[in-house]
Amino acid sequence: MTSDTTVTQKIELPTREDETWWRQAAVYQIYPRSFADLNGDGIGDLRGIASRVPYLAELGIDAVWLSPFYPSALADGGYDVADYRDVDSRIGTLDDFDELVDALHAANIRVVVDIVPNHSSDQHAWFQAALAAGRGSAERARYIFREGGGERGELPPSDWESMFGGSAWTRVADGQWYLHTFATEQPDFNWDNREVRDDFLTTLRFWADRGVDGFRVDVAHLLVKDLPETLPSRMELDAMDAASGSHPLMDRDEVHDVYAEWRALFDTYDPPRTAVAEAHVSTPERRARYASALGLGQAFNFDLMGADFDAAQFRAIVTENLAQADLTGSSSTWVFSNHDATRHATRYGLPPARGTGQKAGTAWMLAGAPAGEIDLAGGVRRARAATMFLLGLPGSAYLYQGEELGLHEVGVIPGSRRQDPAYLRCADTGAWSFDGLGRDGCRVPLPWRSEGASFGFGPGESHLPQPAWFAQYSVEAEDADPDSTLNLYRHALALRHRLQSAEHLEWIETAARDVLHYRRPNGWEIVTNFGADAVALPSGRIVLATGPVTDTLPGETTVWLAP
Ligand code: BGC
Repeated sequence: MTSDTTVTQKIELPTREDETWWRQAAVYQIYPRSFADLNGDGIGDLRGIASRVPYLAELGIDAVWLSPFYPSALADGGYDVADYRDVDSRIGTLDDFDELVDALHAANIRVVVDIVPNHSSDQHAWFQAALAAGRGSAERARYIFREGGGERGELPPSDWESMFGGSAWTRVADGQWYLHTFATEQPDFNWDNREVRDDFLTTLRFWADRGVDGFRVDVAHLLVKDLPETLPSRMELDAMDAASGSHPLMDRDEVHDVYAEWRALFDTYDPPRTAVAEAHVSTPERRARYASALGLGQAFNFDLMGADFDAAQFRAIVTENLAQADLTGSSSTWVFSNHDATRHATRYGLPPARGTGQKAGTAWMLAGAPAGEIDLAGGVRRARAATMFLLGLPGSAYLYQGEELGLHEVGVIPGSRRQDPAYLRCADTGAWSFDGLGRDGCRVPLPWRSEGASFGFGPGESHLPQPAWFAQYSVEAEDADPDSTLNLYRHALALRHRLQSAEHLEWIETAARDVLHYRRPNGWEIVTNFGADAVALPSGRIVLATGPVTDTLPGETTVWLAP
């Protein structure tokens, strides 16, 4: 057995003109307000991101996905967009954006931006015009306004709840109500309105013309709705078949007419612009529709986020999703962490029964549980093993800023500093709220240095408080440690391109129940031991290992083996 962890062979990377770059890309999600703050206002900015392009290039990612940076009152972390074709002045300017795109492209990194089409901010000019214009107006027809129930319209039109808790309807001064699937400040658009469709085409063209390579489409399954005169109750809605394609509120078949128009637009560019759908739908077959080459082309698969660190669960998910990808002709996607979920190092540090992704129970574990109940080191060990399993798979890997540091979720944030409406709207009602603590804990600004103001995030304080333990996860600390998670990611991302000759894997059966072993077409094998005990190490030359390996494969460890 030999061990070789140096990269010697030069690899041909896809060029900017390559139409298929997205199929097996490592896409790194940046939450701009929490990445790097150059101007010192406590909020990350585009020039801060530009200053870190060398870091991104060294990391070895193929693309960045920028969460919303548009003007926003920040009622939902920027997913309440006040102007789709501008940059929030706290984050920068359109010139800064152009410079950032140029810098990323010069480093052979593509740029994906977030498009939020289900709803705007209530500060958007169209919503303000709708309020001013009154009932029955063309301005109101761009959103979903209804008369209320009760004798004087004083009751909401239905008992529907918003995703962040509380009623999904809010009453305006003249007595009408508007629908908001999310926060009050996020009125839903009416996608039956041609003006809305045309305006989004203009927005997509605006960013594609600026050189953006692709789009991440927020809640892609919710845009098109069909609201009958008499609205069904919440219970009636719940009893309806969400996979029928005719549910009044979600995943309606007609939503694909919208994406066919978007595809036609994307295909006028060379190379065609790409898109990935965030579509929370009820079956893999329904998800596949969003990934169609006639539509958005790719869809997120969040299945691994909800899985335990468990060989059987991982294998079933991988097998099913690769089969789906074969059917659609798209490539599969893999995600462990994003701006909406408890970081996976922390999920895997929870006691097994509760360590299952975004499930109720995580809240008290993070907030109130004795610190000893979270196995911090074990969480990082399992996250490293799981991520290196994922990075070996065919398809695109979506990575979330900070996971390359093995960063944990920040569980303790004073209520007065929390920002997430999922927390603020739900704290008192006990409604579903992303683990009860909301999503601020995974959005705390990154630690770049081990000391100093905001750990090098910026010259001053950061908009969400960083805990003292961030020091040990800083880029500075990990850069200096050859065994750090950061150096592991760099090494894996550099090697990953060699695995990608074809989008295929072959399972190799093993005697050990807790071990998954697969081979890629270049002959490399990826072996993960999900169990606690060491197992026999298959033969091969170790090119990557997530922990110390001797002549056996220790528990909770992944190796990549070359023949
Ligand atoms: C985004 C969330 C956001 C919601 C409403 C989601 O799926 O990822 O961060 O709160 O859409 O826009």
